[in-house]
Amino acid sequence: MTANEIRQQFFSFFRSKGHKIVPSAPIVNKEDPSLMFTNAGMNQFKDFFLGNKTPDVRRIADTQKCLRVSGKHNDLEEVGIDSYHHTMFEMLGNWSIGDYFKSEAISWAWELLTEHYGLAADRLFVSVFSGDANDGLSADEEAADLWLRYVSKDRILYFDRKDNFWEMGDVGPCGPCSEIHIDLRTDDERAKTQGKDLVNADHPLVIEIWNLVFIQFNRKADGSLEELPEKHIDTGMGFERLCMAIQGKSSNYDTDLFVPFIQYIEDETGQIYSYDYNLTAKKDIAFRVIVDHLRAVAFTIADGQLPSNTGAGYVIRRILRRAVRYYFSFLERKEPLLHLMIPLLAERFGEVFPELVEQQEFVAKIIAEEEKSFLRTLDGGLKRLSQLNIQTKLEGTVAFELYDTYGFPIDLTRLIGLENGWEVDEKGFQTALQAQKDRSRADAQKSAGDWIVVHEGTEVAFVGYDQHHASDVKILKYRTVQVKEKDIYQLVLDRTPFYAESGGQVGDQGSLAFGDERIQVLDTQKENDLIIHVVDRIPTQYREVANAQVASGRRELIENNHTATHLLHAALREVLGDHVAQRGSLVNDRQLRFDFSHFQKMTPEDIRRVEEIVNQKVRANIPLEESRSIPIAEAQQAGATMLFGEKYGDHVRMITFDANYSRELCGGCHVDATGEIGLFKIKSESAIAAGVRRIEALTARSATTHVNEQLEELTEIKMLFKSPVNTSKQIEDLLTTQKRLEKEIQSLKLEKVSAMKTDLLSRVEKVGDFQFLAAMLHDVDMTAAKSLSSDLEKAIEPGLVLLAIDNGAKANLQIQISRALVSDHLDASKMIKQISRHIQGGGGGQPFFATAGGKNPGGLSDAVQALRELIEKV
Ligand code: SER
Repeated sequence: MTANEIRQQFFSFFRSKGHKIVPSAPIVNKEDPSLMFTNAGMNQFKDFFLGNKTPDVRRIADTQKCLRVSGKHNDLEEVGIDSYHHTMFEMLGNWSIGDYFKSEAISWAWELLTEHYGLAADRLFVSVFSGDANDGLSADEEAADLWLRYVSKDRILYFDRKDNFWEMGDVGPCGPCSEIHIDLRTDDERAKTQGKDLVNADHPLVIEIWNLVFIQFNRKADGSLEELPEKHIDTGMGFERLCMAIQGKSSNYDTDLFVPFIQYIEDETGQIYSYDYNLTAKKDIAFRVIVDHLRAVAFTIADGQLPSNTGAGYVIRRILRRAVRYYFSFLERKEPLLHLMIPLLAERFGEVFPELVEQQEFVAKIIAEEEKSFLRTLDGGLKRLSQLNIQTKLEGTVAFELYDTYGFPIDLTRLIGLENGWEVDEKGFQTALQAQKDRSRADAQKSAGDWIVVHEGTEVAFVGYDQHHASDVKILKYRTVQVKEKDIYQLVLDRTPFYAESGGQVGDQGSLAFGDERIQVLDTQKENDLIIHVVDRIPTQYREVANAQVASGRRELIENNHTATHLLHAALREVLGDHVAQRGSLVNDRQLRFDFSHFQKMTPEDIRRVEEIVNQKVRANIPLEESRSIPIAEAQQAGATMLFGEKYGDHVRMITFDANYSRELCGGCHVDATGEIGLFKIKSESAIAAGVRRIEALTARSATTHVNEQLEELTEIKMLFKSPVNTSKQIEDLLTTQKRLEKEIQSLKLEKVSAMKTDLLSRVEKVGDFQFLAAMLHDVDMTAAKSLSSDLEKAIEPGLVLLAIDNGAKANLQIQISRALVSDHLDASKMIKQISRHIQGGGGGQPFFATAGGKNPGGLSDAVQALRELIEKV
């Protein structure tokens, strides 16, 4: 079976057991602040498990793109070194939300593996939870008994919390689990060592393939377990491992999921991958790292996350750089490589993840730019290292600087050291690294206390599309969150008009009145489906009902900007083309910011046209058409724009402003009719990454204010002319004239100076046995003065020339001495220091030529006198 067939088989099996097949959620998790990336198939169902939300159907299955590179589940360091860990992997899963439980989960897993995939039963082992005294949990005999239907007792193994109690993170849904392991060793080896002794022992051929989790608890922030109202099933099967087992391979990388990419790299680099299971050869590790990281980076970018210097974007950038560093160092490849494989990736995975096919050009371009820039960095870093002239040890702080500022991986620095006979001061490096980690941990420190329930209830109603006010609302729960040692208060209401930040639109502000006690809502945030009000304090009357009031004026400005964003998006597609796709957006009460894919700078003409289209739609006063909850298929049919990397449910909200113009899936707040926007004005257009442009724009009063400010400035400029006609032409003329005049002045000055020369030469005096010429000049610039003194010196050689120049508020001195005369006592730079105090200044230069500047022209003659005395002494 090919990988694609294995995947389809999974879907059809669970479809036959009454499951609905849903699409994978995006890799980047925007909904859950406790996670950066989706790390398990169950993430998108967390709220169902916790009872915050009720699903439409209770049996679900899918393949989920997961990334385990941060937080509780982090496999990054394993990748490439072994044959079965990945950064990005697919997790096949089936879920029961309060429906079937252990019995069905176990028997279906067994049926699928042995009957449909044809895996040999005598190669399978199962594990169950052995209990945990701290959590007060006993062994899962129920699961063990259920397994006895299929396997003998000696194949049922007991493991503790570390292996058989699954938790999503520090907090959240969890429960005991039962894993299925497979022994893929040869018969010989199996005869030598029993498979059951190798389960959970990191043997590359005795591995876990499927985890069945019996979700029954919620782990709270204080570490305790809370029983959930319903019991759920959450299973996760590593797709790549499953393919290896079914295809009879000894490494995930030998399956058809990876081989085409390995072959591509072989063709492209001329290096050969040894399929002989060599886990230590650097070259082979490089192949595995590259084909693994390629998928992580490409799928994450396709899901809307660009590489950047912070957060999720930084993690992606580092994974990409890790891949580059491997081909750079071990495959002798000095040119970008990853981006070349995007078309192949789209071809191989397009069937299940169409988002990559639709964006291949964009994804390839982003990756190519990242590769190029990092290859340059590597190059720069290598040069830097070669200049350092390191003897035996590279200082830890320098290694850290290379790592931190230049993105230079430490193992690369180490390797270069090895080649050049020096080593890295590892301790110093670690100390510097730790210091940085501590700094960023202190910055990010955030710990949430547990929710304190005030009123029962879990469903939260959002009424803010229709009203800015709601009376008689109740607090369901509240908690305190510590951010950098400061307390922040949060509460959840049973009903709320406050819009929680999402889809680029900022959260609402406003107030809650509990009788005569009023508290401020500073912000509104979302955690999965909970609407969280950030308030200035918990009211003393928190058990009472309250009146909720959104700050209306602010909300209206936000609505203007949000609707304008939709109008802008449609106009950009009209003017620039269909390749324009939203890459990010920020909508607040002051302005809107819209990032989109487009490869060139927009011309002023493009910008003008986009602006004009939007303003025309504003003037047409198009009414809002809102379909609050329609089946997603219907919205797709109606041609609604969907965004990459967004998670959509079965029912979606569709926002239309003229069915032939703008139709988007959107959860945000909008004007009732476009006329409310008043005016739309683009403030700037710029690049934020390769292939991504950013527009910042204003609406309503901010737009008029901006335009007025610009006009006022223009009026002021016009007023500077007696008869302003074509101002820009007038300014251009002025600038040309000024340039011409400057040139003329310059040549006049030179003329003036050379005319002086003859006159000055008549004043040469003899001091001792050489010629001395001291001249007092007015308004001569320093360039002219320099050429004058050099001319004069040549004319009187051997001699000494002193120019004392009065430039109005400034005074300058220049001493030029024939080289033949220069001595310790006759040194221009020393002498100028001595005499420049008379003009309240200082200077320096060389022994034969020195200059000084000061602010006292009145002292120039004293300076001349002082020099004369100096020379006389000599
Ligand atoms: N949540 C479990 C896991 O990730 C099963 O899906 O292993």
